[in-house]
Amino acid sequence: MSNLRDKAIKLINQYIKNENLKKHLLATEALMKALANKFGENQETWGLAGLLHDLDWEMTKDNPEKHPLIAVEILEKEKFPKEIIEAIRKHNHLQGLNPETLLEKALYSCEEITGLIVAIALVMPSKKLAEVTVEKIMSKFKEPSFARGVNRDIIKKCEEMLNISVEELAEICLKAMQEISDRLGL
Ligand SMILES: [Fe+2]
Repeated sequence: MSNLRDKAIKLINQYIKNENLKKHLLATEALMKALANKFGENQETWGLAGLLHDLDWEMTKDNPEKHPLIAVEILEKEKFPKEIIEAIRKHNHLQGLNPETLLEKALYSCEEITGLIVAIALVMPSKKLAEVTVEKIMSKFKEPSFARGVNRDIIKKCEEMLNISVEELAEICLKAMQEISDRLGL
């Protein structure tokens, strides 16, 4: 599977220019691995789904209804495992597809919280993840005008889909992102 990760990184470097988007993908990979660990699932598979989920973001920015269909086509051609491709296909709630497996539900409901945590880190005096706390995340989660692009309703679905609270998700995500803070530059 690690050669699949190399392949994934190659694809990301081929299709994505924006460094912040690459960092979002690394953060989502770290979060998904941590969630796999919590649920006793395959960390590499879950990590790859997180790492690749927005592969076509730049190619679809003028046609958001195509996100992530182009990524799905690329990943099918590259012969990535079907469970990864399906989770990616279903992660964009605008597609109106129902996530069914635990992996699909995790990617669907959890990836947006990485954006909230990045936004909070950036308003800390040090601009570092080390200064972010779960309490801070929860207070900003309840403040819709802060990082308003982050869809709180989708994140909240972790409660029914994964049976974990937003607070627990925040804790898992913060820890996972802090562990790769150097790579995230935060
Ligand atoms: Fe994303």
